[in-house]
Amino acid sequence: MSSSVKKAVIPSAGLGTRFFPVTRAVSKVMLPILSVPTIEFAVRELKNSGVSKIAIIVSELNSDIHKYFESVHDVDIEFILQEKANGLGDAILQAEKWVNGEPFCVVLPDDVIFNESPTIEEMIKIHSQFKSSVVALKAVEPEKIPFLGVVESQEIDKSMHRINRCVEKPQLADAPSNLAIIGRYIFTNDIFGYISNTPKGALGEIQITDAINAQAVKNSVFGYKFPGEHFDTGNPDGLLQASIAYAVKDVGKGPRLISFIKSLNI
Ligand code: G1P
Repeated sequence: MSSSVKKAVIPSAGLGTRFFPVTRAVSKVMLPILSVPTIEFAVRELKNSGVSKIAIIVSELNSDIHKYFESVHDVDIEFILQEKANGLGDAILQAEKWVNGEPFCVVLPDDVIFNESPTIEEMIKIHSQFKSSVVALKAVEPEKIPFLGVVESQEIDKSMHRINRCVEKPQLADAPSNLAIIGRYIFTNDIFGYISNTPKGALGEIQITDAINAQAVKNSVFGYKFPGEHFDTGNPDGLLQASIAYAVKDVGKGPRLISFIKSLNI
């Protein structure tokens, strides 16, 4: 399968503090849903969308990620070092040279999505039609708002929005809507210029959301409300829920898991 977007960036250098103590020794993206590391779901989604050149942004602590991909031969994987944790915008900026002037995808491995057709593939179709950046959107509960990027947008149809502005990790009272950005992005290459001009934002870090906000002032940026089940596996509850949802769907494991849960009499 060929795609009009050939390259993808997977930021993976996060410290995984919500998973201490295990992340003292294991990279967060190597934590599994059953036996499959979350980063493998990101790579499979890209591969199934026709994207086979992938740059994984790592810190010097992530040697287990190198080891895991050592024997993988059907995807072209490059590792790029982010020397200091300085936000998602900064992590993506490390890939500028590697991306080399092309449009590209970003997949955040914490955001695992189970659906019939890969979210990134649908977003690439939108990008191919409009030649614009595209972000994945989901309506979220109020308690999630202060932890996410949130958009103000106009609905074009059931699944498409045009983004007017976006704000990173707003207080609930300042949030422009309940529509949050989930970790799938297609970027036109000029995003790198916007990131370079982005000052430190929320949490004192270079936020990709601020760069998208600047891009949306000048160009069209679209939002895609994806179908399917989404899990934030960046925290232990989300990882557990993703594991249960994944196991329940498995014909070999599902019925046994359901009868085990019933046997707990909760
Ligand atoms: C990042 C982005 C945020 C987005 C979120 C999705 O936040 O900065 O805009 O909503 O991913 O998972 P992080 O999870 O790195 O705090």
